[in-house]
Amino acid sequence: MARVGIFGAGWVGLVTGACFADLGHEVVIRDVVPEKIERLRAGEVPFHEPDVPELLERNRDRLIFTLDVDDIADCEFLFVCVDTPPTYSGDADLSRVWTVVDELPELDGRPILVMKSTVPVGTGDKIRHGLDLRGLSHVGYASNPEFLAEGNAVRDFMHPDRVVIGAFDDADADAVAALYAGLDARVVSCDVNSAEMIKLAANAFLMTRISFINEIANVCEVTGADVVKVAEGVGLDHRLGPHFLRAGIGYGGSCFPKDSLALKQLASNSGYHFQLLSAVIEVNELQKRRVIGKLTKHLGPLRGKKVALLGLAFKPNTDDMREAPSIVLASRLLAEGAVVRAWDPVVADPGNLPRGVEVVDSVLDAVDGADAAVIVTEWADLRDLAREEVRDAMANPLIIDGRNLLDPVAVRAEGFVYEGIGRRTVATDVLPETHEREPEPELH
Ligand code: UDX
Repeated sequence: MARVGIFGAGWVGLVTGACFADLGHEVVIRDVVPEKIERLRAGEVPFHEPDVPELLERNRDRLIFTLDVDDIADCEFLFVCVDTPPTYSGDADLSRVWTVVDELPELDGRPILVMKSTVPVGTGDKIRHGLDLRGLSHVGYASNPEFLAEGNAVRDFMHPDRVVIGAFDDADADAVAALYAGLDARVVSCDVNSAEMIKLAANAFLMTRISFINEIANVCEVTGADVVKVAEGVGLDHRLGPHFLRAGIGYGGSCFPKDSLALKQLASNSGYHFQLLSAVIEVNELQKRRVIGKLTKHLGPLRGKKVALLGLAFKPNTDDMREAPSIVLASRLLAEGAVVRAWDPVVADPGNLPRGVEVVDSVLDAVDGADAAVIVTEWADLRDLAREEVRDAMANPLIIDGRNLLDPVAVRAEGFVYEGIGRRTVATDVLPETHEREPEPELH
């Protein structure tokens, strides 16, 4: 069993540390924020991620949380798990990565610096050079990107599709691979640049699939097809597969938006215009706004209309609001003059939402008097949304299903007007005549 040091007690660092500890390794997690370390020592996990609290608790004896960089000096592996947010130019901000390199203490033997953070291609080369300049030529370097999806991270770590390891030295790659020996994992060994690119390309491809199916959904709407059936039929082709073909109101999260910008920027810095990726990003931006058109179709101008946003997190099973489509949607609704009430079962800090959104504690509070309810995140709690008490509470029985969570037939049978993303509409999908529409504003 190895001694593993981890820089960064964020989501990636904690998941990685907890999982390595569970595999039997001794783990030292170091962060620079004192409150974070104090809370972790007290057994508190600063985010919502299934199984992480249990893993940290179960492996307490093998986990050390520290502020002191010298505590990782005797680790054989030094994992870099700090964040690499976008800069104004869209490039990845590597300042925290370089701080780690600068802060490395005196190290004996051949410890290996392992990059888990997502970084531009070429970063490993630069760090290798930086280590040599600092007199740390005896420190190995490897790229070992993470492919963990929020809400499923522990399972993704323990049952990986593959473990990618890029290294300058075969022995370093073998040593990193040995850390995962307890897992049934296929290891892809390669050069450092290729490992860095695998991570960026995998994310870009997943985003491409999402924007692709979202555009197919939009074409389904104008041609009368149903994207749920289309995705099923397409995904059964073994060359294509079923994953990441769920149409909706766009992707968000801490990875996709930032990594797509970073890859686009990386390409253009080298003189290459990555046209397809640019389109993927733009399609996603437009997709977040499509709900506005759907609401207007049913309600007319949105000024003064009450809209319930159901779900705020960028996807279910996480409290992460980073780049969530809910933020763009809420901003657009407020700009149209709508009254926005929002609910989410987990998000405790909707700090990213624009001011003016009222966040309430229950679905019923959110839909009370609402002209429309919009499913923004496909939380399981919303599966029974189309029920009598919800219909009775609403001013208009209109459900816009931004994630195609519900069965349109069942929803309509409960007396709702239903509209999903890329799904067929039917003749009865109109609000009752009694609904008074506001007059169109006069144009001056
Ligand atoms: C992603 C990658 O899956 C992971 O490998 C990488 O390391 C980090 O980025 P994550 O951001 O946690 O993980 O979420 P993911 O489950 O991939 O979903 C990303 C976004 O795409 C969400 O907003 C989700 O709602 C959306 N999505 C996903 C769709 O709109 N349709 C789909 O079919 C799948």
